[in-house]
Amino acid sequence: MILMKRKYFHFRAVYMIALSVALTLIVNAQVWKPDANIERRVDSLLALMTLEEKIGQLNQMDARWDPEQRRNVITPEQGELLKKGLIGSYLNIIGAEVTKDFQRVAVEESRLGIPLIFGYDVIHGYRTIFPIPLGTASSWNPIAIESAARIAATEATTAGLHWTFAPMVDIARDPRWGRVAEGAGEDVYLGSEIAKAAVRGFQGKIFSDLTTIAACAKHYAAYGGALAGRDYNIVDISERTLRETYLPPFKAAVDAGVMTLMSAFNEISGVPATANNFIMTDVLRNEWGFNGFVVSDHSAVMELLHHGVATDTAEAAVKALSAGVDMEMVTGFYLKKIAGAVKSGKIQVSVIDESVRRVLRVKFALGLFENPYRNCDPSRESKEILTQKSRAFARELAGQSIVLLKNEGNILPLKKDMKTLAVIGPLADNTMDPLGSWSAQGRAEDVVSVLQGFKSGVSSSTKILYSKGCEIATSDTSSFAEAERIASQSDAVVLVVGENRDMSGEAASRSMIDLPGVQHDLIKRIHATGKPVVLVLMNGRPLTIPWEAEHVPAILETWYLGVEAGNAIADVLFGTVNPSGKLPVTFPRNVGQVPLYYDFKNTGRPPSQEKYTSKYLDVPNTPQFAFGHGLSYTKFEYSKLTLNKKTMKRNEPLIVTAQVKNVGTRAGTEVVQLYIRDLVGSVTRPMKQLKRFARIDLKSGESKTVEFTLLPEDLMMYDIDMKRIVEPGKFKVFVGTSSVDVIETEFEVGR
Ligand code: BGC
Repeated sequence: MILMKRKYFHFRAVYMIALSVALTLIVNAQVWKPDANIERRVDSLLALMTLEEKIGQLNQMDARWDPEQRRNVITPEQGELLKKGLIGSYLNIIGAEVTKDFQRVAVEESRLGIPLIFGYDVIHGYRTIFPIPLGTASSWNPIAIESAARIAATEATTAGLHWTFAPMVDIARDPRWGRVAEGAGEDVYLGSEIAKAAVRGFQGKIFSDLTTIAACAKHYAAYGGALAGRDYNIVDISERTLRETYLPPFKAAVDAGVMTLMSAFNEISGVPATANNFIMTDVLRNEWGFNGFVVSDHSAVMELLHHGVATDTAEAAVKALSAGVDMEMVTGFYLKKIAGAVKSGKIQVSVIDESVRRVLRVKFALGLFENPYRNCDPSRESKEILTQKSRAFARELAGQSIVLLKNEGNILPLKKDMKTLAVIGPLADNTMDPLGSWSAQGRAEDVVSVLQGFKSGVSSSTKILYSKGCEIATSDTSSFAEAERIASQSDAVVLVVGENRDMSGEAASRSMIDLPGVQHDLIKRIHATGKPVVLVLMNGRPLTIPWEAEHVPAILETWYLGVEAGNAIADVLFGTVNPSGKLPVTFPRNVGQVPLYYDFKNTGRPPSQEKYTSKYLDVPNTPQFAFGHGLSYTKFEYSKLTLNKKTMKRNEPLIVTAQVKNVGTRAGTEVVQLYIRDLVGSVTRPMKQLKRFARIDLKSGESKTVEFTLLPEDLMMYDIDMKRIVEPGKFKVFVGTSSVDVIETEFEVGR
């Protein structure tokens, strides 16, 4: 056992970012299927359980927080429930000691001793906070994202946890929706690759390993389609859009072995996700073969009443459970109502048995029956959290998550030995906001602010002058004058502006997505000093910044980078790290263009000089910054786009190669992107769809040939009869540095 442990500690120590050209070589895990032994154990346990005990396994609760003891405590009422085996899981209880107390009652004082499973939102780190998911998605580096999830899992498991409510794999195409921050952006393929990576990272290689936590792909499904970007709003989409855009990352997570899913709050075209038999049972279980369990989102079963699809709590509980929502988060409707519903014939015991089976399977697989206190060892808590190694990795990943949006006149990188540098803005000396939303046990005191990062990033002779300039979201301009004064005394100005961290995430939609407060006015005033200005943006969604995009020479999108934010920003600004991030989401010019995404369709009247074409009178159709865009301090040139054949059969692979040359003067990393377009189909097809990408390192002057293999499934689509097939006909293939800057060729698929 000790040897085994050691081996996996070694495994965890390998946090290096590997070249993601190796991406295509990753062996995908399988849909998770417990072995026959687990199935046997589940069946024999199920045979011993009373109806009440079964329902107990489907009940997840919050525990009471005692502010004096500063920990969760077992109330007498919950103590009784635990002893009767009526609680199957808790959320938000953290700590080796405290989880042990709860677990002890469940295991040692209940009739069957079934262990609890403890869940928590470990979204982008537990204590070592990494960039927000939209940030790490900008690295286009699934291997690094997997490593970050591994570290998060290791840390979380020191605190008694078995299960994280992550990754969020919702495709988000409306930047007004605050939860765009929590996912991988707008693209189906990138989102699916990242979903798989996160699942692999959280769940590790062996489920019973001490550092494994069960992952949870959420929010199933189409939550990101909220009308008008307003959180929790209705979603009205066709089955085609559901299957083509919103479901693939969930399918990818299932194919990577994810053990749980979370049902979404929203309705999908009239049927709330939490009562949606089609997505929960027909698709998830019957089509995809998912064997794990689905937990409802927080109070989502109760919300079926608000949706107006259930007249009372019993009907809500029956609808959710019958649809395939196995565990209910927080409101206790299953516990209170399902037994009665069985008696009155509204639900069959076999439905409950199936849900209990799914929950028990996960508990067995995690080794909880062998070792219910597996994550309750306080000695690990102090040793394995926020280590130097994790911080170093967080810095590296944060550096890769930064997107250089603009660099006119190559004013970046800044010289480390300039005489005076002004650092201005409400996010410059800020250690709270870089944590982003859902920062688990992340602490402001762990965060390196931009100002701190700069102080250690520049030479000792450089004088740094700092002014806050203004608050993030007030109308107070009283500090403008001081900011102007220090700007005029400096050789260059770095302006650190954006949103505060509560402006994105859950329940944080905005109807206007410009820079809040008077930050835009501050930028204009500083720009007017004539000094070279670099804009560092910190925000959880694409912003509309048309004036800045036109007038400010250099702009960096940094999202919220986590504990190493300041160091990573300094690394990029002063050229220690050459930026390589690419946007995983489109930046619109104004909110009126929303939703705006790269894989749009042509329409019958594509935009042209003609009046009666699909466009606006007051803004072009093009984005401010396109999906896949991101500059480097060097330049890459694309050529020699070659296919191994020009015509192919439907079931054949296609090999695409292109040459990429670093024609600049410094080494850099490029994310090479491959898109396709199916020119004519039985139904309309997007103008471009991302199908492959690879991060490659190139020294100055170096060329590499990048090879991608497209498989038949990459060309598949839902045809007019909703069958997933490859249709014969012509395709375009594009390879390039962003979704708009590409070289292209064609091939044809025969009958
Ligand atoms: C969120 C979920 C989260 C859950 C538990 C809900 O409000 O929508 O994403 O996992 O709370 O904290």
